[in-house]
Amino acid sequence: MRTLKVNLDKKILSSHEIRIGHNIMDRMVLLIAKNYKASRYVIVTDSNVNRLYGQTLLVAMTQAGFKASVMEIPAGESSKNMSTVMDITGRLLADGADRGTLLVALGGGVVGDLTGFVASIYMRSVPYIQIPTTLVGQVDSAIGGKTAVDLPQGKNLLGTFYQPRAVFVDLNFLDTLPDREFNNGLAEMIKYGIIGDEKLFQLLEEDIHAVKSRDSVHWVKMIETCCRIKKSIVEIDEREQGLRRILNFGHTLGHALETVSDYALSHGEGVALGMVAAAKLSVKMQYLSEDELIRVEHVIAHAGLPTRILASFDPKAVIDCLKMDKKKKDDVIHFVLIKKIGMPFVNGSINEQLIGDVLEEMKA
Ligand SMILES: NC(=O)c1ccc[n+]([C@@H]2O[C@H](COP(=O)([O-])OP(=O)(O)OC[C@H]3O[C@@H](n4cnc5c(N)ncnc54)[C@H](O)[C@@H]3O)[C@@H](O)[C@H]2O)c1
Ligand SMILES: [Zn+2]
Repeated sequence: MRTLKVNLDKKILSSHEIRIGHNIMDRMVLLIAKNYKASRYVIVTDSNVNRLYGQTLLVAMTQAGFKASVMEIPAGESSKNMSTVMDITGRLLADGADRGTLLVALGGGVVGDLTGFVASIYMRSVPYIQIPTTLVGQVDSAIGGKTAVDLPQGKNLLGTFYQPRAVFVDLNFLDTLPDREFNNGLAEMIKYGIIGDEKLFQLLEEDIHAVKSRDSVHWVKMIETCCRIKKSIVEIDEREQGLRRILNFGHTLGHALETVSDYALSHGEGVALGMVAAAKLSVKMQYLSEDELIRVEHVIAHAGLPTRILASFDPKAVIDCLKMDKKKKDDVIHFVLIKKIGMPFVNGSINEQLIGDVLEEMKA
């Protein structure tokens, strides 16, 4: 088992460890018993993950002498809202959960964001632990302490910054992950290679087939590198004042494409297309070489993610969507571009025409 330390504000107990390994459930329970004592533990999980792993974790915790229970929510993004928050907090109250309770988020980003949010507000906050079971959770959402729920007006509009006490990344969970969910995480891994580590990018290039069949010998190392990049960025800019924005590489256009496709595109597919577009823009603006763009396109294509958009896509609709986003935020679109693989920067002014040209070029 490998350990990464996330060094944050010492005053508010937000520093914590990320532990990564294969088959670490037993050791995880021992560590929780030793380091994260609580009067009771409530495992929050979704219907899919509960069926697969809920009982196993509950039994392991009960056998270790914990007072533990499981709280299930329906799987899917549609659970990430205030009515589920009301439901969870209502059930916590009915069960007599007080401030001595520790919440355990067992699931993907939906469970993680929601449980973190509840933990940050229930009785003015209780501690929580992240046990991410999706690749997105393991390399992205469980790290960094952003919690959120969606509003009818948009995603992640209510939320807090609230760090978990610990994150446990057990790669065994990935064995049961459906391909499309796995690909969502793979898109984020490629993103980390592009923005943070040329060696990781190279490893992904060389090993993409083994990665796809989930048996690369470098798997732990690659996941650890992603966690390390994210945690290093969060350490410097926990509240997204500047540097943390580079994590949005591929996401600005990616989100717009997801929205315009009416979510026919998954998040990973949107991000993959957004990364190709950002690399193409970087070439057009003479920051990036054509060779590096080709490498980016290849690794994305070999990962089984899209690099071309449907001919029916209307670039204007995508640009209108970007503008809407701009209005909602602070009137600038922070577009992340690259000078080379491993060297991102934030560019606040991108010409609409250029974005339109790139989208036209990307049509299949
Ligand atoms: N807080 C952050 O920094 C951050 C970062 C990225 C994404 N997010 C959020 O994360 C969410 C997306 O997370 P996600 O992609 O993990 O989605 P998810 O939580 O909906 O999980 C995807 C699906 O996989 C199932 N599943 C989970 N683990 C499984 C396993 N081991 N085996 C089989 N099935 C399993 C789930 O039940 C669900 O149906 C979004 O709401 C997004 O906003 C947050
Ligand atoms: Zn993402």
